[in-house]
Amino acid sequence: MKNFTKFENIDLANKLIDKALAFKKDPLVNAVKGNGKRIGLIFLNPSLRTRMSTQLAASNLGVESFVLNMDKESWALEMQDGAVMNQNKVEHIKDAAAVLGGYFDILAIRAFPTLTNKDEDTNDFVINQFIKYSGVPVVSLESAIRHPLQSLADMVTIKENFKEKRKPKVLLTWAPHIKAIPHAVANSFSEWSIGCGHDLTITHPHGYELDSKFTKGAKIEYDQTKALAEADFVYVKNWSAFSPYGKILSVPGDWLLNDAKFGDNKHAKVMHCLPVRRNLELSDEILDSERSLVQNQAKNRIFAAQSVIDSML
Ligand code: CP
Repeated sequence: MKNFTKFENIDLANKLIDKALAFKKDPLVNAVKGNGKRIGLIFLNPSLRTRMSTQLAASNLGVESFVLNMDKESWALEMQDGAVMNQNKVEHIKDAAAVLGGYFDILAIRAFPTLTNKDEDTNDFVINQFIKYSGVPVVSLESAIRHPLQSLADMVTIKENFKEKRKPKVLLTWAPHIKAIPHAVANSFSEWSIGCGHDLTITHPHGYELDSKFTKGAKIEYDQTKALAEADFVYVKNWSAFSPYGKILSVPGDWLLNDAKFGDNKHAKVMHCLPVRRNLELSDEILDSERSLVQNQAKNRIFAAQSVIDSML
């Protein structure tokens, strides 16, 4: 595995999921495998889980990790090839990525979308510039369009919480928010869930259709209550409109999930990647109930990252 930026195929996904579950049972089984290796974690945006879980994963493998909050602590980066740098950008990605590639065995990058430049975002421009110029394997810590370490942890969480012989029925539901939120978690969850063979339904208000590149194979159901009736797992997430790009649309009805909406469905579990705005995106009633798997998901971020780094080693 050269880079880890997206779902590749079912065989690799299954290997990574099984390896993550094995690391969960015995986190230090490969404690010296990465001795002498170094990973650079480069953040262009804030993080709690991704940063801490990836550092813990590296530590479990004997890999040294170094964090750079590049947006706050480093030079302003020029991303465009051929730019005349006579404005406020101090260092070109071509130089910075090459330097970092010379320092580290693996680079991991978080680069959120602009939500204003659709072309640049949908082409995952920033992470691809790092891949192009660093010359070392790159792990996505969430790019403009995908969050694969989160999705891998989510697949691990579904696998360990589903014991039936049939496919799990998984529902991705849109949730309210006050800000324009990226599509990466929703895209990636859809991509991995379909790729892993789940029976995936997506429910959202009209106008919130995701990029069909990520949802091909999922059923779209605009009635949230109907969609909830048979789900085994309900993944709650807000995203902004894909078209018009990055906008918040006015939405009729109440999309905040509460227990009454589940009706007779007593067994469904609820997932969210966190951070979550309580009682805006997801109610206290659900988050603090037996249905919630959110802490389980967050814990599994360690073993998902460990599985990926171990595979790269
Ligand atoms: N779920 C997730 O990626 O959390 P952070 O943004 O805190 O890393």
